Amino acid sequence: MTEVLPDVAAARKRFLEITRAGTSLGLVPTMGALHEGHLSLVRRAADENDIVAVSVFVNPTQFNDPEDLKRYPRDFEEDRILLESAGTDLVFYPDTEDMYADGYRYKVTEVENSLLLEGAHRGGYFDGVLTVVLKLLNITGADRAYFGEKDWQQFNLIRGMAKAFFLDTEIIPCSLVREDDGLAMSSRNARLTPAERELAPAFHRILAGSGSPEVKTARLEEAGFAVDYVEEREGRILGAVHLGRVRLIDNVRI
Ligand code: PAF
Repeated sequence: MTEVLPDVAAARKRFLEITRAGTSLGLVPTMGALHEGHLSLVRRAADENDIVAVSVFVNPTQFNDPEDLKRYPRDFEEDRILLESAGTDLVFYPDTEDMYADGYRYKVTEVENSLLLEGAHRGGYFDGVLTVVLKLLNITGADRAYFGEKDWQQFNLIRGMAKAFFLDTEIIPCSLVREDDGLAMSSRNARLTPAERELAPAFHRILAGSGSPEVKTARLEEAGFAVDYVEEREGRILGAVHLGRVRLIDNVRI
């Protein structure tokens, strides 16, 4: 039976018992609205650790658009059932006042790479991500934390933060999980209209196809996407597009 830890105090107490007992702990941080991509992280964490904890927290500091935060899908009961079926031992489900008792006066900022790609289009986004992940790693004391490679830039920045602050947690990248038609799994896919959902796999097809970033940008625009960026970095081609009111990101190894 999955145990739910509803606040920071209860979670700290429980995680301390686990780490003091010498039991290995794997953490999968999420914002809920779970799909097969998240569950693959949970299963990997279960393979590599004695205990698996999943945090479910829609982190307000990483949303620069209040409408996007309001529309973000939330269904804790459904998430809890999915997590239980995937072998999760503990679910940490705090509220915002508890996580940000300081009113977000303290934050983590990376001053170079966080300003590129996603950071260039979503002001303050990575400050919010890095800050909440640092809080989660401190609260749980996890031995390992698992992040999907769909958010490649996020994974790199979190790994950099862990190194910069001498954190004991190992930051582990996990392969991106796709739908059968190639669309990268994302909580936001549920908000695509049927017509948008039909068009959405073209994002990956074009990104993974031939041509320069400029050519791919032109192809995406022609197909009906509004492009934030298509760029080559660190042996990957990374992209972000809007389809109607939904923003999609993806990346492929070159
Ligand atoms: O990737 C996500 O879902 C979020 O950015 C994370 C890592 C859970 C932090 O809120």
